Parts: sequence; structure tokens; C-alpha cells
Amino acid sequence: MPEQMVASSMSKMLQTAAGVFFFAVVLSAGDAAVVEQTFVVTQVRMRHLCNDTLATVVNGQFPGPALEATQGDTVVVHVVNKSPHGITIHWHGVKQRLTCWADGAGMVTQCPIQPNTSFTYRFDVGDQVGTLWWHAHVSFLRATLHGIIVIRPKSVAYPFLKPDMDVPVIISEWWQKDLIKVDKNFSVGGSFDDNPAAAAINGKLGDLYNCSGITEDNFALDVEPGKTYLLRLVNAALFSEYYFKVARHKLTVVGSDANYVTPYTTDVVAVAAGETIDVLMVADAPPCQYYMAALANQPPPPDPQIPVFAARAVVRYTSISSRAQHMCGKEPLMPKMPDQHDTITTVYFHGNLTGLPGHPLLPQIRGHVHERLYLTLGKGSICRDRNKTFCKRGGNPESFEVAYINNVSFHLPEKIALLEARYHGKITNGNSSWNGGMPVEDLPSKPPRAFDFTDKALIPSVPGGKLEELEPTRKATMTRRFGYNTTVEVVFQSTATMQSDSNPMHLHGHDFFVLAHGLGNYDAKRDVKSYNLVDPPKKNTVQVPRLGWAAIRFVADNPGAWFMHCHFEFHIAMGMAAVFEVENGPMPETSLPPPPLDLPKCTKQRADVSFI
Ligand code: C2O
Repeated sequence: MPEQMVASSMSKMLQTAAGVFFFAVVLSAGDAAVVEQTFVVTQVRMRHLCNDTLATVVNGQFPGPALEATQGDTVVVHVVNKSPHGITIHWHGVKQRLTCWADGAGMVTQCPIQPNTSFTYRFDVGDQVGTLWWHAHVSFLRATLHGIIVIRPKSVAYPFLKPDMDVPVIISEWWQKDLIKVDKNFSVGGSFDDNPAAAAINGKLGDLYNCSGITEDNFALDVEPGKTYLLRLVNAALFSEYYFKVARHKLTVVGSDANYVTPYTTDVVAVAAGETIDVLMVADAPPCQYYMAALANQPPPPDPQIPVFAARAVVRYTSISSRAQHMCGKEPLMPKMPDQHDTITTVYFHGNLTGLPGHPLLPQIRGHVHERLYLTLGKGSICRDRNKTFCKRGGNPESFEVAYINNVSFHLPEKIALLEARYHGKITNGNSSWNGGMPVEDLPSKPPRAFDFTDKALIPSVPGGKLEELEPTRKATMTRRFGYNTTVEVVFQSTATMQSDSNPMHLHGHDFFVLAHGLGNYDAKRDVKSYNLVDPPKKNTVQVPRLGWAAIRFVADNPGAWFMHCHFEFHIAMGMAAVFEVENGPMPETSLPPPPLDLPKCTKQRADVSFI
């Protein structure tokens, strides 16, 4: 599959003339094409590491089929669900201007597509360009239900050295567990035994893994000396951020989350969960074989440790003369990877990303900020007996652990999707009883109490530690409503309560500008000075550093209900999420149209979405 994609993209790329890149690409409607695809979701048996596993996939493939479009195109995907699970497909990073109904966030924008039914997603890719991806947005099923979205530039060339070929590099995990069960385990308190079996690159586990002497296949990329390759990295893994390197090759970062960045050259790339990074790699090493490797990072102890996950693939120079071959080692050369406990290289990597200056939204971003939110990301607990607020905590079975934003753990609606409830006027604000409506609460602007959020003594290594008194938390469907065209600033604060993890925070329906990040507790007086308001990178996922913070701003200009959550799947299952609701603007062109007629009905067997 990758070879075919490479061939077709190469011809497309050769047609694009070199030129200067402008932000506002005006596309006349007549130019737009319709990209139509059918995704049949089934369960298939796949064999890895001596075990058959039942995987839920699209069109029999892992990773699933690529969605390839050109700027301005309309995408139509018919999803036919032949699996036993309720499914939604989310188009991660697609802004879905006025098409929130097609966003595919389970129980936020739609109820799942029930087994043996289908639903057609329709949306425009607008002026977005670069790499995005699609994935299931119910439960943990996205582990194998995902694929790349490639949006190529229309009438202008890339704002960088023209690549000769285009190569998706999807980093994922291979799970051998029942993912629905894993999801449930996490939504009622987390389970440290639920880990993936391996990491994978483009569905191949690679030769670091073997079972009974049979090594797993490597993904192989054949390169020609002197040619330039655009590697489109996607981190589709559920649990980890990955470091990526190719032995003896420099990588020039040119894009992220379907936005160009100022090119910068490095030998190591960090890809947060949910994030995409586009890099150029010139085949300029001695013509031999090299490994490309992806290694998951994690905080050091006393954080609970998961196994080391690493996958590797091979870069093979073609047309190696026999003389040259002589000079190559027998084995491909392995890059020297960062330490798996290195959590600072990613901070530097992400700090080096800048956007192209001159984005039309920047003046508004620099101007008056209407709403400021300071959101702490952490872990608390809830009494198992729902009528109690007092119970034993700190790991005692009277309570279970949840993740929160500002001390409220997100409760996913169960009967009807939030956007439908809002559309039909069925929302009940406040903590009141059901009343036939969906009870929704306001996401608080600030954490309810201040403490030293990044105090390492809070890392929950021992029961009864400092954390216990901070634990009491509750569950609610938390949303925050923004008027149309509001400028919003969000400062995300990672805390030491959620195992001192980083938090890859993702917002649907909008790109945001990442203005700054730092270590320790955010201090507005000091840290506002570090904001980059000149050329901040534009992203849909921000890696909030471990024991640190990140500040973003965006313009709420897309009406709908947009999920905002951590892209670590166990964090979202445990409740680290909220919904940003954006109100309609004054005109029909600034208002969300009615739902499509075939929007899946909400049935009683509301599929496998995690909820408590
Ligand atoms: Cu990639 Cu809400 O997700």
C-alpha cells in the first residue's frame, strides 16, 4: 500500500510548480473535487507474537486505508459497520467548518453507528494542508481503527524543498487484549496491567520483537541516493509519546497538525499522542541500510512503569553497487535513541516549532482576550458508593481513581449525544436533577483550590501520601460555552497527581496557536512575557510538558460542540475531557446547519463508550 501511495503522490508532486506559499489560498468552488471512499468496519484475526488477536479494522487493513485529498476537496466517506461494536470515525484535526455533525466524537456529536448499519460522513477539507489522521472515537477501538489523512496543496507548491516522494509513518501499538474491557477497567479506576503488547510502524512490529525465534516483519522504505522524502509521522498510539530517529539522517521538520512550520533540522523528533509531524529526509548517507526507530518515553520512577515500547523499520538504499555494499555492515545501522525516561528532549523539540508569520488570525490572537481558562490536569477519586462523599481514598477499594480537569471528571452523555441535546433544547444547566434534559455543568475557569501542582511529593507512589486529601472529585458533563468569534486563552497545567505524566491536549473543530510552554507552575505575571505572538505554531494537539504547562489561544469561530481532551486514551477514559461549545454567529453562513438525516439514532445499547 505505501508503495502505491508513493507512486501516485510523486506524480502529483511533480506536477506542482515551485513557487511562493501564501496563507490565504483562494479556491474557486469549481476546482474542488469530491473524494469518496467506503470504510467497511469488520473484525479480523491477525497473528503477531505467536498469538491470534481479533482486531477491529477498516477494509481489513491495519493501519486502515489512507484518505488522500487536495486542498478545497469535499470528502464523502460511507462507513459500513459490520463489527459487533458501535463505531464512530473522527477526522482528527479536520476543522469541520459548519459540519460539527460529521466530527465523529462518540456521544458528543453523534451516537455510535450501530452494528449492521451505516452512516456517511461529509465534510470539506477547506484550506488545510499537510498530514492529519482519522480514528474511531469510541472506547479504545482506535488502537487498530485508524489511518492517515493526506491533504496536498492545490495551486501552490510546498514552502520548502520539493519532496520526491511521500511516505506515511504511522506509529501505533499492537494490543492483544479485549479493548472494550480495557476501556471499562480504566473508566472505573485504571489498571496498571493493561498494556499494549508491542509498538508498530505502519502496522509492522519490526525485528525488535520475536516469538519462538520468528521475528516480526519490518516496514521497509526503499530510497534512492540524493532523493528527498517527506515522512508524514502520525502518533496513533493509545499510551505514549514517541521519539523518532533514522540512523545517519537529519530530519527537517516542515509541518505539524496540517500546518506548515518554519523548517528546522534535527536528528530526533518527538511525536505526542495524537500529533502529526512532517519531516523531510534527504537520502544522503552512504548507500547502505539504516534503521528508523520509534521509542516510547515515560516518566522515571516513582511513577509506575510500563514496559519499554520500541518499533523499528528499515531504510534501504537501492542500486547499491557491489563495491559500496562491501563497505556496509551486515546489519542495518541503528540510531542512538534518547533514554526512555528522557522527558526533556520533547520539551525542547516542541519549543523549537514556530509557525509561518502572517497568519490572518494573528492580529485577533494578539488583541483582546475575551475568556481565560487555567485548567489543571490531574487525578482524583470518587466513592464507589455514589451516595457518599466521604470514603477511604488513596487506593482503598472504597473509592476509585478518575482523571479530571479543574477537579471535575468528565461524564460522557449516555442517552443522546450532547450536540443533539443542545440542538433540540434538551440541556439542563447546573447540578439539577434530570428533568427530562441532559444535565450539563460549566467548566470552571480556575482550579477550585490552589496547591503546588507540580510538587513531586504528590506523585502517587504510596497510598496515604500527600495526595489523598486532594483527591475528592466528582463526575459531570462539563462544557464551556463561547460566543461566536470569541478569543479564548487556555493555560493547561499538568500536575504531579496524574503520575507526573505529560498531557497531549487535543481540541476538535479548531486549530489553536501555541504561545508558550514551561516547566513548573504557570505564573501569569512571569510567563505572559514568554508568549510568542509573532510566529506561534498552529496546532490541534499541544504536548503539555510533564510537571509543566502550555498556553494556547484560539478564535471560537466554528459553531458546534467540540470535544477537548487528553489524547492518552487512558486519561480520556478516566475523564480528562470537557466540551467547548461555540454558539452560532449572526448569519446563516456562521450557523450550524441541522443534522444530516441519516445521523445514527441513539439506541438503548449505546455502544461500548466509556462512561460511569
Ligand atoms: Cu484524535 Cu478526540 O481525538
